[in-house]
Amino acid sequence: YYLPKIPSLFTMQVTEKKADPEVNLLFYLRKVRILSFYCNRSGLDGSCGACTVMVSRYNPKTKTIHHFPATACLVPICSLYGAAVTTVEGVGSIKTRIHPVQERLAKCHGTQCGFCSPGMVMSIYTLLRNHPEPTPDQITEALGGEPSRPLRAGPRVDSNLCRCTGYRPIVESGKTFCESTVCQMKGSGKCCLDSEEKSFANRQEKICTKLYNEDEFQPFDPSQEPIFPPELIRMAEDPNKRRLTFQGQRTTWIAPVTLSDLLELRANFPKAPLVMGNTAVGPSIKFKNEFHPVFLSPLGLPELHFVNTTDTGVTIGAGYSLAQLNEALRLIVSEQPKEKTQTCRALLKHLRTLAGAQIRNMATLGGPVVSRPNYSDLNPILAAGNATINLISKDGQRQIPLNGPFLERSPEANLKSEEIVLSVSIPYSTQWHYVSGLRLAQRQENAFAIVNAGMSVKFEDGTNVIKELQMFYGSVGPTVVSASQSCKQLIGRRWDDQMLSDACRWVLDEIYIPPAAEGGMVEYKRTLIISLLFKFYLKVRQGLNKMDPQKFPDIPEKFMSALEDFPIETPQGLQMFQCVDPYQPPQDPVGHPVMHQSAIKHATGQAVFIDDMPPIDQELFLAVVTSTRAHAKIISIDISEALALPGVVDVITAEDVPGDNNHEGEILYAQNEVICVGQIVCTVAADTYVHAKEAAKKVKIAYEDIEPKIITIEQAIEHNSFLSAEKKIEQGNVEQAFKYVDQIIEGEVHVEGQEHFYMETQSILAIPKTEDKEMVLHLGTQFPTHVQEYVAAALNVPRSRIACHMKRAGGAFGGKVTKPALLGAVGAVAANKTGRPIRFILERGDDMLITAGRHPLLGKYKIGFMNNGMIKAADVEYYINGGCTPDESEMVLEFIVLKSENAYYIPNFRCRGRACKTNLPSNTAFRGFGFPQATVVVEAYITAVASQCNLLPEEVKEINMYKRISKTAYKETFNPEPLRRCWKECLEKSSFYARKLAAEEFNKKNYWKKRGLAVVPMKFTIGIPIAYYNQAAALVHIYLDGSVLVTHGGCELGQGLHTKMIQVASRELNIPQSYIHLSETSTITVPNAVFTAGSMGTDVNGKAVQNACQILMARLHPIIRRNPKGKWEDWVAKAFEDSISLSTTGYYKGYQTNMDWEKEEGNAYPYFVYGASCSEVEVDCLTGAHKLLRTDIFMDAAFSINPAVDIGQIEGAFIQGMGLYTIEELKYSPEGVLYSRGPSDYKIPTVTEIPEEFYVTLVRSRNPIAIYSSKGLGEAGMFMGSSVLLAIYDAVAAARRERGLTKTFTLSSPATPEVIRMTCVDQFTDMIPRDDPSTFTPWSIHVS
Ligand SMILES: Cc1cc2nc3c(=O)[nH]c(=O)nc-3n(C[C@H](O)[C@H](O)[C@H](O)COP(=O)(O)OP(=O)(O)OC[C@H]3O[C@@H](n4cnc5c(N)ncnc54)[C@H](O)[C@@H]3O)c2cc1C
Ligand code: FES
Ligand code: FES
Repeated sequence: YYLPKIPSLFTMQVTEKKADPEVNLLFYLRKVRILSFYCNRSGLDGSCGACTVMVSRYNPKTKTIHHFPATACLVPICSLYGAAVTTVEGVGSIKTRIHPVQERLAKCHGTQCGFCSPGMVMSIYTLLRNHPEPTPDQITEALGGEPSRPLRAGPRVDSNLCRCTGYRPIVESGKTFCESTVCQMKGSGKCCLDSEEKSFANRQEKICTKLYNEDEFQPFDPSQEPIFPPELIRMAEDPNKRRLTFQGQRTTWIAPVTLSDLLELRANFPKAPLVMGNTAVGPSIKFKNEFHPVFLSPLGLPELHFVNTTDTGVTIGAGYSLAQLNEALRLIVSEQPKEKTQTCRALLKHLRTLAGAQIRNMATLGGPVVSRPNYSDLNPILAAGNATINLISKDGQRQIPLNGPFLERSPEANLKSEEIVLSVSIPYSTQWHYVSGLRLAQRQENAFAIVNAGMSVKFEDGTNVIKELQMFYGSVGPTVVSASQSCKQLIGRRWDDQMLSDACRWVLDEIYIPPAAEGGMVEYKRTLIISLLFKFYLKVRQGLNKMDPQKFPDIPEKFMSALEDFPIETPQGLQMFQCVDPYQPPQDPVGHPVMHQSAIKHATGQAVFIDDMPPIDQELFLAVVTSTRAHAKIISIDISEALALPGVVDVITAEDVPGDNNHEGEILYAQNEVICVGQIVCTVAADTYVHAKEAAKKVKIAYEDIEPKIITIEQAIEHNSFLSAEKKIEQGNVEQAFKYVDQIIEGEVHVEGQEHFYMETQSILAIPKTEDKEMVLHLGTQFPTHVQEYVAAALNVPRSRIACHMKRAGGAFGGKVTKPALLGAVGAVAANKTGRPIRFILERGDDMLITAGRHPLLGKYKIGFMNNGMIKAADVEYYINGGCTPDESEMVLEFIVLKSENAYYIPNFRCRGRACKTNLPSNTAFRGFGFPQATVVVEAYITAVASQCNLLPEEVKEINMYKRISKTAYKETFNPEPLRRCWKECLEKSSFYARKLAAEEFNKKNYWKKRGLAVVPMKFTIGIPIAYYNQAAALVHIYLDGSVLVTHGGCELGQGLHTKMIQVASRELNIPQSYIHLSETSTITVPNAVFTAGSMGTDVNGKAVQNACQILMARLHPIIRRNPKGKWEDWVAKAFEDSISLSTTGYYKGYQTNMDWEKEEGNAYPYFVYGASCSEVEVDCLTGAHKLLRTDIFMDAAFSINPAVDIGQIEGAFIQGMGLYTIEELKYSPEGVLYSRGPSDYKIPTVTEIPEEFYVTLVRSRNPIAIYSSKGLGEAGMFMGSSVLLAIYDAVAAARRERGLTKTFTLSSPATPEVIRMTCVDQFTDMIPRDDPSTFTPWSIHVS
């Protein structure tokens, strides 16, 4: 196959004589061809899109070239014979020419940490290869969401995850290739820019809305793309193709080129998988340890690639990819009358959301039909549509029905081992025949269904009497199941409400989900089974009405919207910020939306992450062996089998730690006992990662359980198990106040945890030096000093011997503050023992298991208030699940207690908190540091008060909000004026009250869909209440050519810190940004630097850089005065001649914060960041799905040093927050085992979850204490995401009111589809069987 050559853009032929069938393209490109791009082990199951490449093949039949996106981690290299592969390096490079896709992604600020950027580039690039002038919808589609689109639209493209940006700027960069990129509503009066322009017209400070300048973009010329290699066309057209065989170390790959050869091979190797898309085989090999000595790969056989339509139906070749199937069905649907294409339409609906588009381009129709996964979206519909499977073997052809027995894997309905699927025949539907596909997943796209269904009914002609009925359900048991008995019983019944009621009862009886079923969500799944049936019932009634309106009345108008799935729209919106003062010197970049300093390197794949660093001589790979018990004594560790495996060099345990194995309560290697599932017991060092991992599996550990095993907060409270003492803040007289209030309410709120899901997993390269016990570590961390400390302690050497280098991290979000120290020390001990460099890159599953994340929280409140909504007293208790070691739990808890009053003044206020010690992996810092969880409790009690007082929550918020210069509950003075401004503007500009009325109107007209709106105010703080944690240092060198190297103690995590530092240095030194370079952060240049966290990276490092620059300028000043017309270079040269030092450190002592917990008062934080956010959602009460329609955020940015970076932080944090509050759900077993360990079972938002309309405004205020009067905005946006949670609450409350449920209810976080559905109580939730909790052990539990 072919790879684009580096650095030129010509293609090059790759002849791999030893192609190993077990090697996938991602591994090959990274490790064999050493292309330094893409994620390594980010997910490796095809669902994150980071490893997207473009595969191109020539079709000799149609004489066309087909370009499609594919996830390299699922593509076996052997399957690429005759294909051209384009990687991001082939698209463009800094050394040659940057492609417009790369340039625009960078300039539109579509990259932050850059880890996802090559995948994004490839997705958009592949789209442009197929559609040089795409529509905005195609761009959204290209990135993961398929908007509703016309039937004849072209092929779909990719699906990619990004954890940093919130997708908006990525979509925007793609939209620059579309003809019209102007807001469709502009000028109509509806566009918020119109109102902005009006409302800001009289202001002196102008508002800008453009974060980039299109005029700078190089034009896109599709004719300049590399041509498809002619040799590959010749190869594809060669009439004498022969069978290909690739012999690997352990396996053989055979690619037959004729059907008869394939059948012969199939007869000889009946157990060998037929590798088609490899999207089922690949993950099974990786995650289930399957091994196959032989693979058969019949790619491209014409007998498997065809569509044949007749009068009665369509037959589609089993080798058709799901993307091709989609196109074929679209064509049929556009050509055939509607009544005939019910099955095709149902399939098309599911093909829209099934997996990501890369998978749909790779996976084939035969794949799911044969592998029959229980979650299959297509099989239930094919079965309901009476599809048949056409089989062939050496002995001939036969047809079998794709029906219940086949899907339920009855042996008599199965394929014979020598048979293959040739094609699938789908009969057309007929008059009086209805077929539907129904589905609900945690996330709209690229998520396995929680329950799906295929249903069909045929009526006696002209009647509503059931002649045939079929219902198939997926994800409710080990296979797709058929409700055949219920269906049989319903034959002859009329399609009416009584039939529905009986059908629901019978189906629930027939499809029994046991209470402890794997996957959990049992009651929800039961509810979905009948809710989906109800949807089908309504749909069919509507269809009958269309057939004969006289005979069959239509469904009530109020039920209509129950039938519609949420559309996926191309997101749009605006970003508004202060324009730079026109009098500011043009050379001064401060205040301008400057592009991220590494953006082009990200987009071209040239930014180097840890695992991109080239192999080091003698290096070893490390794999971990982790505890499988939550609390147990280690009886023995048997490493003999592991040591005997090839390539294994050593097994490292606690005994090998020369210094502290337990440093400040954090344990490197478990010794004698384990205290959580996922604790590192030992590591295996081997010559390859595969060898290390294989050996890790062979380490045998014997345990003896120890009681108690504490997993949840409740259990911790019961056992009095805490990590630290209680923290308390109190003002007024709470007890007294409760006596004089009109009403008192009490409640509990649970907020579950969150996984950081940084795209680059924890990565360490530890290189031991031969001299003086020195060691060099390269890692992605937020706190190199901490790593240095832990490594030095573990190796028992002075810190001066340990050098930690940090260039960039592929996202961090708090997860790389403390954990890299622990993992760095684990790796360093291995390097020390083996004396060889250690590459220690955690796989996604290990990362999620070992490093934990945001603290789950339980809030208990008692609130006293007056009937007008005025809160007089609050007594609130917080508990967080800290896990098994201290980490930063105590500090998180302190932040919660200090910040939890949020924006509200409650005169009598008591807040207490405790960090629980449990047998879970130790939770750690996460963006917002407790605030996003704690404030859910606050908003919950505010909402509860509103409900009790019959007021809108926003009215209660307004009444209780801080209004004038005040003191917090811990007596820190502040001025809430910007809070009031953000709140007011948010209400006004979002037209909150008008839209609230409109939503109420909508709700009156729609029974099963409800809309909700909510506005949340925010008073957030940056920094740390301990003054010495706010200090920072910098080191600035001026070289004799005038170039400047700036180094500081902060880490670049994607948040644009280095970019802002360049802006600061540029202003202070009065030189262009191009003169200034930032290379890395390291403990040898800036010692003892504090962590980059708490939103204060720019604040403190900026001041240090500013200080260094000012010192240098003071030294240069006399020279400049003497030669004012001279150039920078002249002054630098003169300074050297005058023996003036051109290098200095800069220092910032830090904000003088303090907190006295004895007195419960202090100046805990340097300043406050205010904001307000309004969101509107629509909820499907029958399934629990929701759609975010619009969000408006007003954030007090004071003066923004870089509006692009700040808006990027706000948007990215908002989407991450929205994920926390809605779809991100960690699942634990009652034994403390984390189930969710990858992108397949932990769903972060994709492009389809972001608001359809998204408006962000930076509100101007003053903040003289911070550099250039700016504010730190890294975390604040996170809590803004709770407006989505509260909007969902509002919608659910509307549903409950309509159903006569007036009692106040609590919606805990996350408001997953399960929670939403089960809170929208109705006849279906009433109908399902409930289990007595004392009679079974559930599959999963909540740990908050
Ligand atoms: C990230 C991800 C997300 C996904 N999301 C969804 C989803 O939301 N909904 C859903 O329904 N599915 C989903 N899937 C599953 C996906 O649909 C299946 O993996 C896919 O359809 C399998 O097709 P394939 O061509 O890749 O099969 P392969 O992996 O190549 O083969 C699968 C099995 O089928 C056999 N086989 C294949 N073709 C034939 C044939 N013609 N004759 C005989 N045997 C054959 C092979 O021997 C093998 O045992 C997802 C998969 C991934 C990786
Ligand atoms: S690493 Fe391939 S899709 Fe994530
Ligand atoms: S920029 Fe997308 S994951 Fe960081």
